[in-house]
Amino acid sequence: MHSAIYPGSFDPVTFGHLDIISRASGMFDEVIVSVLDNCNKKALFTVEERVEMLKEATKDIPNVRVESFSGLLIEYAKSMNVNISIRGLRAITDFEYELQIAQTNKLLSGGKLDTLFLTTSLEYAYLSSSGVKEIANFNGDISKCVPDFVAKKVYEKFGHEKRD
Ligand code: PNS
Repeated sequence: MHSAIYPGSFDPVTFGHLDIISRASGMFDEVIVSVLDNCNKKALFTVEERVEMLKEATKDIPNVRVESFSGLLIEYAKSMNVNISIRGLRAITDFEYELQIAQTNKLLSGGKLDTLFLTTSLEYAYLSSSGVKEIANFNGDISKCVPDFVAKKVYEKFGHEKRD
């Protein structure tokens, strides 16, 4: 079986992530979307909440599995017997950071873990989870950024009623 891991924070999942997941699902037998459980990074949602949101958002894509992982991605990938990591590239500003991670993973895995970059579709090029949180914090409109049920949860976290 030809599988790939799509790792990330997904705090919360956006239409940009979902675009990458949907396209990757057409390229592999299975896409394992994996939420990084990193206690040091302050997140709006718990890992469990992020996994649940991803499961709900991808429920119509049969070859997508959602999990979480902690520690190094190379160790997790090895334990899953997967050697491809998928990452989305939005703009050139993502490239340096992503290249560094990809090359470090390649080196640390003894050449085993490759990273496959998918360029984000244009309409989502400037979408980010942190942008979504900032807009929602000020009760702005995030309906074009995340699915409705996610927007509701984000507004709740900031103590706002869902906007119409
Ligand atoms: O959505 P994000 O926060 O940009 O995702 C970053 C992620 C999860 C892909 C990256 O931080 C990661 O893989 N972390 C796991 C720890 C690890 O393996 N670090 C070594 C790579 S430099």
